[in-house]
Amino acid sequence: MKKNIAILFSGNGSNLERLIRQLHNKTFIPTNEIPIHESFFISGLKRGFREARDNEDGNKFSINVALALSNKKNAYGVVRAQNQGIKTIVCESKGKDRESFDMELVNILKEHDIELCVLAGFMRILTPNFTNNFKAINIHPSLLPLYKGANGIEDSFNSPMVLGGVSVHYVTSELDSGEIIAQGVIPKYESLEIYEERIHALEHFLYPFALLEAVYRDIYGI
Ligand code: GRF
Repeated sequence: MKKNIAILFSGNGSNLERLIRQLHNKTFIPTNEIPIHESFFISGLKRGFREARDNEDGNKFSINVALALSNKKNAYGVVRAQNQGIKTIVCESKGKDRESFDMELVNILKEHDIELCVLAGFMRILTPNFTNNFKAINIHPSLLPLYKGANGIEDSFNSPMVLGGVSVHYVTSELDSGEIIAQGVIPKYESLEIYEERIHALEHFLYPFALLEAVYRDIYGI
């Protein structure tokens, strides 16, 4: 079983690159070992995944990153996706109303037979035009439901909390809402710069597993 996914982004694209490197054109099999990391506390994942061997039996599935799509032509992620050999499309959102931009997106995604959309720094609130047509997941750099919006890292850092983290969740037409798949937690570090660096490292660890979990649930109707 092969799943066609699209990764949608607006900027730097570090998560996009990580997901492509870890998952594209690879076949996975679930394991009973829930992912752990030496310096991050992770919760929500129900199983782990590892690459499957050719002659192995089991609930195997493959990931095909069929498309990388940016709503900004100057996004550095465009370069990253092209360097990885992924088909890349820019569909500018500037000057378009939400509904018609989303219909354009839906048409492109349908043309590429996309089954799951993965938002990775895609700075758009999606309308029902989109969410009624596609299942999507997103990564947000805070412990949702706290600190929604574009400044999740800074807002978390400046909050009275002594921990921060990241969340991977299903996308609805409401900003940074939708069922949470997994979260990871880190302490506050001494500066915003260090905290931000650690948040991105946590994202790069968590997102591939959470994406595999979402695909697995989708395939097996969990
Ligand atoms: C990440 O912090 C992600 O959580 C947020 O946007 C940022 C994207 O970073 N939604 P990158 O473009 O993947 O480097």
